Amino acid sequence: MNHFYNPVAVSFGAPSAQAFADKLQSRYADAERVLLLTRGGDVEKSECLQPVMNFLSGKETLLVEVTLYNPNVTDILNLKQKIEPFDFELIIAIGGGSVMDAAKALSALQRRMVHTAAEVREAITGESYREMPQFTPWIGIPTTSGTGSEVTCWATVWDEECGSKYSVSDVRLYAAAALILPELTVTMPLRLSVATALDALCHATEAYWSVHTNAITRVYSLQAIERIRGTLPLLIEQPDNLEWREQLSMASVFAGLAFSNTRTTACHSISYPLTMLYGIDHGIAASITLAAVLKHNFAALIEPEKLLHAYGAATAEEVDSFIQSIYKLYGLPNRLSQYGVTVEGIRSLVSLSYTKGRMDNNPVEISPEELEHMLVSLL
Ligand SMILES: [Fe+2]
Repeated sequence: MNHFYNPVAVSFGAPSAQAFADKLQSRYADAERVLLLTRGGDVEKSECLQPVMNFLSGKETLLVEVTLYNPNVTDILNLKQKIEPFDFELIIAIGGGSVMDAAKALSALQRRMVHTAAEVREAITGESYREMPQFTPWIGIPTTSGTGSEVTCWATVWDEECGSKYSVSDVRLYAAAALILPELTVTMPLRLSVATALDALCHATEAYWSVHTNAITRVYSLQAIERIRGTLPLLIEQPDNLEWREQLSMASVFAGLAFSNTRTTACHSISYPLTMLYGIDHGIAASITLAAVLKHNFAALIEPEKLLHAYGAATAEEVDSFIQSIYKLYGLPNRLSQYGVTVEGIRSLVSLSYTKGRMDNNPVEISPEELEHMLVSLL
């Protein structure tokens, strides 16, 4: 099936910022109150964002810094209650994946009465938020290059209390528009830059082999992989280089577009308990199994030579070597045991790795025994 759909109006680069703000002005002329979520650090004062801030100067704006990482049901409740008296008509999210996830959760839940974390959990797991006639429109301005959240229609909400990770998902959660400003990613710490690029690499690769893959998605996947492969080693040497930042921002959007139509597969499914139980950064948790899952999936790949070529590789082993070289170049631990995982802990990791809508997107089934073997080999 070669259907592709993505409704997000994407603008790229600082020279596009004024036209982007002008479009906001004409589209949201009647909106009086705007919720501005930022990652903090006065990011809204960045020069490249001034056209957007000028648009906001004519609005009643509530600025809320979202400094939490991987928001959970309690975080969403607290954020909602903190904002509640402010009846906003538009959300602008300037930040990484966590800020955009918070924007999406608020978009879906703004009109939903919830008073406790249990009610937030119930609204998400029971999908009652989808009964709301309207979601609040939101605008995404990413400050990292990896999440792709500005072009996908779902948000991740964590629930450590129940040992779960949920997806708030609805076609109405696509951003109305996204502005990609590579300048905003220059101040990202290098570790976060590498981890988010590895996340994008997984989005692109998993979209390529997902059971929902299609010919259009795979073009975006290959473009994203080529850019990350060519640029990430250079960025590690020169983190301030705007050209490398532009390439990685573009790669992140391409990867986001790719997996917006397929969702992710085994690597992401396995990553969730690695993050929840061991605190491993998302991009590392997803990419640490990427080569092993590639080898597992290899026989089912469509046009495998194209995927290998994007990696500059002739074999799956060489893809593995490339990923290892990135870990080595930045000094990231590449063994699960270095993050605290033990042989004894692998059983519970395996039992928590089968997220519906993720693991079942993998083109080749991974049995619990095979997964256990895979994880032991990565200890
Ligand atoms: Fe991801």
